[in-house]
Amino acid sequence: MQSEDYERKARKFIPGGVNSNVRLAAPTICFSHARGSKLYDLDGNEYIDYALGMGPTILGHAPPSVIQAVQETLSLGQLFAGQHPLELELAELLAAHIPSAERVRIGLTGSEMVQAALRVARAHTGRPGFIKFEGQYHGWFDNVLVNHSGPANDPAGELPFPIHLQTAGQAVSATTDTHVLPWNDLGAVARLLAARGDQIAAIITEPVMCNTGALAPRDGYLQGLRELCDQYGVVLIFDEVITGFRLGLSGAQGKFGVTPDLSTFAKAFGGGFPVAALAGKAEIMDLFGAGSVNHSGTYNSNLVSIAAGIATLRELTADDGALFSKIAATGEDIMSGIRDAARRHGANLKVLGFGAVFHTLFTDAPETYDYASYKRADAARQKRFMDALLPLGIRPTGRGTWFVSAAHSGEDVDRTVAAVDQVLRAG
Ligand SMILES: Cc1ncc(COP(=O)(O)O)c(C=O)c1O
Repeated sequence: MQSEDYERKARKFIPGGVNSNVRLAAPTICFSHARGSKLYDLDGNEYIDYALGMGPTILGHAPPSVIQAVQETLSLGQLFAGQHPLELELAELLAAHIPSAERVRIGLTGSEMVQAALRVARAHTGRPGFIKFEGQYHGWFDNVLVNHSGPANDPAGELPFPIHLQTAGQAVSATTDTHVLPWNDLGAVARLLAARGDQIAAIITEPVMCNTGALAPRDGYLQGLRELCDQYGVVLIFDEVITGFRLGLSGAQGKFGVTPDLSTFAKAFGGGFPVAALAGKAEIMDLFGAGSVNHSGTYNSNLVSIAAGIATLRELTADDGALFSKIAATGEDIMSGIRDAARRHGANLKVLGFGAVFHTLFTDAPETYDYASYKRADAARQKRFMDALLPLGIRPTGRGTWFVSAAHSGEDVDRTVAAVDQVLRAG
């Protein structure tokens, strides 16, 4: 097995044999190449890919238009420590479609953009604290990497929740201004703001909780956050690193009709290349331009990333975003196929979310709406299900989230649903 051989050799030089800890949990596979909806490993196995690089490759792998744009750009140079006209073109494209984007700053990763958002929110309000929600992920830096995994707290217990650090070596001091609440519970936010609103600079939320399930906001929840932020002078940040340019041209903010003050984007709009953005109100974002708030990065707006972003957005924005309807329809076909198979085999397998990003889990709960309700699902059954799909050539993310691309075909849908049926039939 060449993948196993690779792993043995890699472990001698690369800790754990992987370069992102998220990959430690996945079965070790070493890939040779990828095209469209398919991944190929060193042993010649083909997989229909629903991990999509953890979301980014929304046009599929190696999409010709993006690859060509990047190749053409390579001959122009890489980095100028200065500006290039293409970065304005990318900023204009982003601003044209993101409702909250009066200004746009471009960076490389979602983690960095989240930090920039929190920093500028603190500067704008003169307050130190922020609220994040249990089960949500906003990157791997110390102040936000809390209460994302591990045991759930009781939402009816004491709030804010005690901070659960997520890694050895994490600076406790970095979390002193982090306040963690249960998601989808407006009352919890209202109570905390009533008690300490004058210390809270920002509320940061994934508008759809995609890092724990693919949980939709309850009716009125995002609007309620908007109103509470307005009441207490708090900056509302939507972390659209997953939902941006995946749930539609205007992201979750457009889909749910709620405009945050700031929002972070990465993943899908880069088509698989490293590029990220922070978009928001001029009044707040101009603090970067005035030089009073620092946002830096040697590789920010390098030409390859910018060219990939423009080429991807050109495809995604064509025909008023027609590709999003195609992606959603493909995903909805898979979702309903999985639901039918679950019914046929009497499995308590639920499918949550949207066509472009959905989640499968085994639960008897009538509603899964926050981290605590998510944690009541059967994790062991989930793992068996995911592990059984892989040898059949179906590769969702290990945690049970499925990303759908424009490259997935009707044949992919049929093969995927047949594989799910086979796994559920076996019990
Ligand atoms: C919602 C959200 N925010 C931030 C991040 C961090 O982005 P990156 O991995 O590009 O640093 C992620 C990554 O999965 C994410 O899902």
